[in-house]
Amino acid sequence: MPSSKFPSGFLWGASTSAHQVEGANHNQWSVWELENAKSLAAQAEYQYGDLDNWDEIKTQALSPDNYVSGTASDHFNRYKTDIAIAKKLHMNSLRFSIEWSRVEPKEGSWDSAAIDHYKRYVDELKTQGIEPVVTLFHFTLPVWFAEKGGFEKRSNCSYFVRFAEKILSEIGKDVRFVITINEPEVYAFESYYLGHWPPAVLSKKRAIKVLHNLAYAHNQTARMIHGLNRRYKVSIAKNSNYFYAGDSATLSIRSAIVMQYFQDDYFLKKVIKECDFIGVNFYFSNRVYGYRIHSPNEHVSDMGWDMSPGDIEHTLERLHERYHKPIIITENGCADASDKKRQWWLAQTIPAIQKAISKGVDVRGYLHWSLIDNFEWDKGRWPRFGLVEVRFDTMERKVRTSARQYGEFIRKVTN
Ligand code: BGC
Repeated sequence: MPSSKFPSGFLWGASTSAHQVEGANHNQWSVWELENAKSLAAQAEYQYGDLDNWDEIKTQALSPDNYVSGTASDHFNRYKTDIAIAKKLHMNSLRFSIEWSRVEPKEGSWDSAAIDHYKRYVDELKTQGIEPVVTLFHFTLPVWFAEKGGFEKRSNCSYFVRFAEKILSEIGKDVRFVITINEPEVYAFESYYLGHWPPAVLSKKRAIKVLHNLAYAHNQTARMIHGLNRRYKVSIAKNSNYFYAGDSATLSIRSAIVMQYFQDDYFLKKVIKECDFIGVNFYFSNRVYGYRIHSPNEHVSDMGWDMSPGDIEHTLERLHERYHKPIIITENGCADASDKKRQWWLAQTIPAIQKAISKGVDVRGYLHWSLIDNFEWDKGRWPRFGLVEVRFDTMERKVRTSARQYGEFIRKVTN
């Protein structure tokens, strides 16, 4: 990995989200997990049976327990240990999310113990010299908010703004970076169009409505936050994959352009005025032939996702050319239990970011997904995204080789 030419103050770290790591959450997701664990286990062979690593994952994938977040990675209780690991790895930033259902378990009633927990969390980060990047909505909703129709109703957005205001009034003095919404399109698409995630709706119309309401929620929240103080830097975490034509046919070229537009610009255009930077989550590229995606799959992750980490350079360049805003990579990584792929991934990604920077792209941070192994939504526990391995039976943490290499790189580049 190259060790120079990153701007000073660059954020080096990793990301997590509350529901995926904390454990013991009660929200719309945890309810849905209990209702769907058996059927997810029953579909596992059909869904994942073709993966090269099926033999290794099948015991877990076929078990209903795998699909219930339960204690997750017990990060709620072990956050000090995990933050200490991040510190040891020389990270200077961590992205995490605040679980709305803990803070406001019933409409309008704030749980002071939960708020104190997040205060202590931010204090711990600050004590360790780690910059917090706070996410307010990372796919999970309080049950009461979901019952009111969640983000399907525009009028409900005011509850989210009120939650954001409460959080910033409580922990805001130590926070600069705020992500309002994680991957709005992924949420709308999985939850309201594909129906894979709660509330498991299958309607294009409703998905688009949710997407528009999420843009509205972001804009309202960002205005509120800037009204509190201009020093806050607010954005969304934008899922941005790279689309490219696989051949020189006009149809492939045009399709890739259109797909990229809907992937990036359709939503970003609605919120960019209220973004101080662009948070980018980059996981894969899509090679387009005609109307279809056929990625090369030369390298694939444990989840079968095409791995083309170097393409992050093109994504960064494109977003820079279109929007001229600073960029923080808020998520990037791969599912890899062996850790070999992750080492390769990081070794490809960091020079690609550096190349983008050398071409003038204003990249301000890189937060790897994820700090620790966690609960991967409807796939459960077998996808291993952590720089740090978690043994889910004992909750023991083990720093992976990729993490040591990344940590050593950060040490060199920041000294
Ligand atoms: C999400 C994470 C998820 C990761 C890997 C992103 O879409 O924000 O919650 O774990 O991808 O699938």
